[in-house]
Amino acid sequence: MSKAVILGTGSCLPKRIVTNAELEQMVETSDEWITSRTGIRSRHIAGRGEQNYQLAAKAGRRALAVTGIDPQELDLIIVATISPHMIMPSTACFVQAELGAENGFAYDINAACAGFTYGLDMANNYIRNRPEMKILLIGAETLSTRVNWQDRNTCVLFGDGAGAVVLTGTSDESGIIGSCLHSDGTLWQLLCMDSPESHNPDLRPDDWVGPHIRMNGSEIFKHAVRMMEDAVNTLLRKHGLGIADVNLMIPHQANTRILKNLRERLGLPEEKVFINLSKYGNTSAASIPIALDEAHRQGRLNRGDLILLCTFGGGLTWGSLLLRW
Ligand code: UT7
Repeated sequence: MSKAVILGTGSCLPKRIVTNAELEQMVETSDEWITSRTGIRSRHIAGRGEQNYQLAAKAGRRALAVTGIDPQELDLIIVATISPHMIMPSTACFVQAELGAENGFAYDINAACAGFTYGLDMANNYIRNRPEMKILLIGAETLSTRVNWQDRNTCVLFGDGAGAVVLTGTSDESGIIGSCLHSDGTLWQLLCMDSPESHNPDLRPDDWVGPHIRMNGSEIFKHAVRMMEDAVNTLLRKHGLGIADVNLMIPHQANTRILKNLRERLGLPEEKVFINLSKYGNTSAASIPIALDEAHRQGRLNRGDLILLCTFGGGLTWGSLLLRW
């Protein structure tokens, strides 16, 4: 049976780099606290000409360039994001216009940090039905537009950027093997972001505090480790594989302590986990495709390698995905 294979990767980070030292000037924090509690040393923050869709389109164009596929050959563009510059039209429609990909259709998905992994699963399902499809999947965020820059609990954590992959069908050994995806909407309050203020006063949430990210970090931390561990073990078992078969795990980049905990519980050696969090912070839906592109460019992905993705975010949403490079 056909399945989706990644033909090319690309990414785009805003030019401006903001260090922990700069954040020390804005909120009561320290480089020592941020580095030791999160592993983050700097993040890229978007400026003029770097709207979400513009970063997304650049990442998409770079991924397409690797494959030699023309934007006009694309059947579908999916953008995973929780920080679009407009609510409507979708970021994917803006990307379509930027790329001149007028022959396909385009839409966004919102699954927070799990958005890119959910998107890979969606792309795989389209391609199983129509293997000739060419899909551009992008994770893109400008979370700098959504954090409360006065809240030290959250503003030090997030960054902006975009990563992209181009997918089509294959019947050889490579491609997406399977996924294990979950959500639990009962835990939404642990990590959320309000909408812009409602023009209907009756529908304004009682605790509305502005369209900012709010998080109960320590609760999220505990859930993240346990839920990603379960999702990975369930998926490996389902496919008759063991953790030793995995060549590289590319996890959502939120906190190095979460990743250390997860790695130890799974029994993975350090060199089999790709981490670039220190440079970019948490870029939500963009974190895995940015890491995938970086791993690819560093020669960490070799043909035949078993690659494991795992992710966790607001919703709650979480899951794992296995693919053969
Ligand atoms: O991508 C989606 C998923 N998101 C995540 O996975 C994030 C998960 N959570 C985390 O990464 C961690 O929980 C955080 C990095 C957010 C926080 O680390 P923590 O070790 O869980 O710290 P905490 O929230 O328990 O806070 C400890 C202390 C508090 O002070 P008190 O109450 O003990 O006096 C905070 O007020 O650290 C304080 N604090 C800070 N201090 C300096 C919180 N933020 C800062 C800060 N600088 N930026």
